[in-house]
Amino acid sequence: MRRGEKHQINVPVRATASLTVVSMIISLSLMGCQRASAASPPSGKELYALHCAACHGQNGDSKGIAAAFLFPKPRDFRAGRFRLVSTSNNVPTREDLHAVLLRGMPGSSMPPWEHLGQAERDALVDEVLLMRKEGARESFVAYLREEEELTEEEIAEEEVQADIDDYVQRFTTPGESRSVPVIESPDTESIARGRDVYFKQSCHSCHGKEGRGDGVEKMVDGEGFPTSPRDFTLGIFKGGHDGASLFRRVAYGMPGTPMPGSSALKPEEVVDLVHFIRSLSSEDMRLAAIMKRAKIFVRAVNAIPEPFDSNAWSEIAQVNLKIMPLWWRNDADPNLQIQAIHDGKSIAIRITWKDGSEDKHATRSESFEDAVAMELVRGNAEPFLGMGSVDQSVDVWFWDADRQTSIDVEDQYPNIVADIYPFSENLVATAEYHRKGTLRDEQPSISLPALAAKNQIVPGRSISGGSDLGVGGPGSVTFRIPKSQLVTAMGQWKEGRWTVVMQRALSVDTPDEGVSLGPGEKASVAFAIWNGSHQDRDGQKLITIWQDLELEK
Ligand code: HEC
Ligand code: HEC
Repeated sequence: MRRGEKHQINVPVRATASLTVVSMIISLSLMGCQRASAASPPSGKELYALHCAACHGQNGDSKGIAAAFLFPKPRDFRAGRFRLVSTSNNVPTREDLHAVLLRGMPGSSMPPWEHLGQAERDALVDEVLLMRKEGARESFVAYLREEEELTEEEIAEEEVQADIDDYVQRFTTPGESRSVPVIESPDTESIARGRDVYFKQSCHSCHGKEGRGDGVEKMVDGEGFPTSPRDFTLGIFKGGHDGASLFRRVAYGMPGTPMPGSSALKPEEVVDLVHFIRSLSSEDMRLAAIMKRAKIFVRAVNAIPEPFDSNAWSEIAQVNLKIMPLWWRNDADPNLQIQAIHDGKSIAIRITWKDGSEDKHATRSESFEDAVAMELVRGNAEPFLGMGSVDQSVDVWFWDADRQTSIDVEDQYPNIVADIYPFSENLVATAEYHRKGTLRDEQPSISLPALAAKNQIVPGRSISGGSDLGVGGPGSVTFRIPKSQLVTAMGQWKEGRWTVVMQRALSVDTPDEGVSLGPGEKASVAFAIWNGSHQDRDGQKLITIWQDLELEK
């Protein structure tokens, strides 16, 4: 037996080291070298560190700083259980990986990278493949050390090194692909046949009789994380909703998940299944699940209207953005509407979204409030989408629902009893005899240290409802100092929707006050919302990808 035959990471051994693929890999890696030596475009390594590492980990092991906030979890490139494959041995082709980068993975926080150039995406694919190779090498060497008890000297021998290279090559070279037939528009017969195959193949045992993903209760993926069969009525498809992509998902399954492949089915049967599955959702729903980059044009106006003057705002064009939960939930509305104007001095951004409940009181430790934030940067190279990085900080404008309301703790806790504060005779008396001891106004500042220290998030301190934050990477959110709090914001909840208007002077004096804007200029912006009744807070939120903001001259 060849060394390594026993050690299969997760893919069936099928050595299909076709010469063309090998030479393709070699020529591509040569291209990679040329790219790195030509100084101008960033290398795959740099692009990866900038855009991907915070989620996928510096070395591709899926343990990035942001990964704790994400569900499903980012892919571990070293382990190589790629889900979206089109080959018999589950090894993705370059095209498979490229398609993921273009589309992202709807139904997860994996964003699309359509806005990067083809050359940049190519360099990123190289980088992912390189990490997969390193991972394969690493795990095989560990196997030789632990299972075959080879010493370091033995491992260094030429023959063993050749075995290792051979192993890496076999487990990272894509196998054969089934050709995908041309998929015509569906007809009722094909959908009906597809339905029959769906039951015959027991798809319903997981995906449910009506395709609602409710056939089984609990499942885990290859990494031991919970997963669930797709609810086809939502139109969310991680690997693309077009016929050819769905054909591949059904034919090859999704390695590393319970979703099986159907290699025994005839191509016509797979096409029928695809038609049946697509018949359960509409094209609009399928498109709504895909993150897109849009241009937000900031119209120049004579005067900025009042935040809730709907007549005046109805004149301003609305941009519809897609927003996704980082911790996935199927019931989140994917839409966020933006309008933006400036009057040459100030800019106003009006954000509206669906939210069935107004959550504005966060006085109880178990309740959370609704909120919205806008991340803003200028310059060609956008930093990491999730809060920038240490080298490239972002400006954040923030509004949350409890900031603009004054909260009486007594309203929330009618039976509250104050402790005896030793600081004030007077207070003790009121607390003891009238149960009013907790009223803020009646307490000496020494018993309210946060207020005394001018902590800006103490309820009632900020009259504007808005906050300016400076952020340099996940986990580094900092309120700007009081004199740099320049954003004002107002929110209104009406008939199941929030409308929030954030406003600020276009230009600011120093970078400490945020990002300066001017007529005719461009910036990149991204948005986040928190839904209090879903207990959203901090990194548990819904986000858009970067969008283009352009101010009319
Ligand atoms: C906000 C976090 C995040 C960022 C940033 C991110 N990813 Fe992902 N990525 C994910 C998640 C989560 C998954 C797994 C989704 C799933 O399994 O449903 C994933 C999956 C993938 C996959 C696996 C596809 C498959 O077939 O299984 C590839 C390849 C990938 N990402 C590449 C990249 C690259 C390259 C970048 C940077 C340009 C990047 N990702 C940036 C979160 C992220
Ligand atoms: C053992 C349970 C199970 C069976 C049986 C099963 N699936 Fe799945 N299927 C899953 C799971 C789990 C997922 C989601 C995997 C993920 O998102 O990581 C899934 C996902 C899918 C997807 C979504 C692909 C995408 O791009 O997001 C399609 C389509 C699908 N299944 C079709 C089928 C068809 C057709 C059959 C029958 C031939 C079938 N499944 C049988 C568990 C199953």
